[in-house]
Amino acid sequence: MAIPQIVLPAVLVLALAQSAAALDAETEARIQAADQGASSIDVSAYPPAMQEAYELFSSKCSQCHTLSRPINSQYALPGEWSRYVKRMMRKPDSGISSSEGKAIYKFLSYDSIVRKQELIDAKLSTLEGKDKSEALEAIEKLRSEYNASK
Ligand code: HEC
Repeated sequence: MAIPQIVLPAVLVLALAQSAAALDAETEARIQAADQGASSIDVSAYPPAMQEAYELFSSKCSQCHTLSRPINSQYALPGEWSRYVKRMMRKPDSGISSSEGKAIYKFLSYDSIVRKQELIDAKLSTLEGKDKSEALEAIEKLRSEYNASK
């Protein structure tokens, strides 16, 4: 029977096309803008543990796109980084272990406290209740652990 042989590949092709086009225009634009920004961070004043984590971040998070993408991203809250690092870890062949993911999450959250304080404040001002207290708690924890200013 010829029909199933033709129909099945067509369905598969459609499914593949849809997953490749899964990014909406807004996401595409946001990603493109981030990709054009700086591709490194001056971590010379960061605590040693964060300098080390930066090396890990640099090698693991530049395998599929440049480091510019996470460095210039509009994500800044620890919860956002937790979600995104997990999303990247789940991508095929990302090669990021859970302990590496955790170290990278800490680095990105710490770095946001240092470099993106205004963005963090703006985001915090839109949160309420448990979401806000959890975000504040996570930020406080990183500040006391790594002694970030402010
Ligand atoms: C296996 C390939 C791969 C690796 C490794 C990878 N990424 Fe990605 N990343 C992608 C793809 C594909 C996208 C496109 C958008 C999506 O699927 O979320 C992306 C998008 C992003 C975005 C933009 C998301 C948005 O919607 O604005 C950020 C930020 C990001 N990656 C950060 C990271 C970080 C941090 C790491 C290291 C922990 C990392 N990526 C490692 C493939 C990867």
